[in-house]
Amino acid sequence: MSGTHEKVQQHYDDIAELYDSRYNQSRGKAYYRHISRHVLARIPHGKRILDLGCGTGLFLKAYEEQGGCGTGLDISRGMLDKARSRCTASDVTLGNAEILPFRNDSFDAVTSLLAFSYVHRPEDLLSEAWRVLRPGGSLAICTLGKHFLTSGLPAVYTVAEVIKLRRIGMGAFGERYYDRSEMTGLLEDAGFSEITINRCSFAHLNLVDPLFGLAKKLEPIVEEKIPHLAYNILASGKKTP
Ligand SMILES: C[S@@+](CC[C@H](N)C(=O)[O-])C[C@H]1O[C@@H](n2cnc3c(N)ncnc32)[C@H](O)[C@@H]1O
Repeated sequence: MSGTHEKVQQHYDDIAELYDSRYNQSRGKAYYRHISRHVLARIPHGKRILDLGCGTGLFLKAYEEQGGCGTGLDISRGMLDKARSRCTASDVTLGNAEILPFRNDSFDAVTSLLAFSYVHRPEDLLSEAWRVLRPGGSLAICTLGKHFLTSGLPAVYTVAEVIKLRRIGMGAFGERYYDRSEMTGLLEDAGFSEITINRCSFAHLNLVDPLFGLAKKLEPIVEEKIPHLAYNILASGKKTP
């Protein structure tokens, strides 16, 4: 594993407890429900999924609640411990999303939420996702997109690290953000078809009230009419038989 992978792993091992508690609060729940709904709309329900960078199992749990089950994969043991106790119908595995320890044609869908920006070789993750998907299977990725706000984030993270500001997501991990055409190119090169790329999310859990409430009210309008203000990018595709 590379040095940056180890850094990400260490970071998430350290903050697993804090991560879970933030997503257990009302803003965290509302934010996560929103992105899960977008991802769930792009995959079949009641099937078997692989969730890459599954973290504490928030999305696997949401998928289980729709009658499905799955496997979560993550490089952080600390995050996986939480996922293991949260998800009763799914299993979890320690590993790097760029090299998958699964057989060809094993899953009905591959998902990844809020983790793709950490991956060093996104083309490897995507070709591995294609390999382990059954013919006709779906891919859905929700990640921080390239944006006028995210372009400054790596610098903010570097400064935060220097001044030892310990908060979720704070740390220079060589994150990469993608725009619509880059995501389309990555999915096409991996062999996916029926590609759709959208923007989602305007209300971020870091916003304090009443700003969060206001952003939440505006979210549907932003996503539909001014999507460049929505900060997550949602990419989906199919492994055509
Ligand atoms: C922001 S958290 C998101 C967790 C979860 N998907 C969620 O939505 O709550 C990012 C996760 O990606 C994992 N991660 C980062 N790089 C990874 C890699 N190359 N392979 C597997 N997991 C990775 C981290 O350990 C962390 O758990």
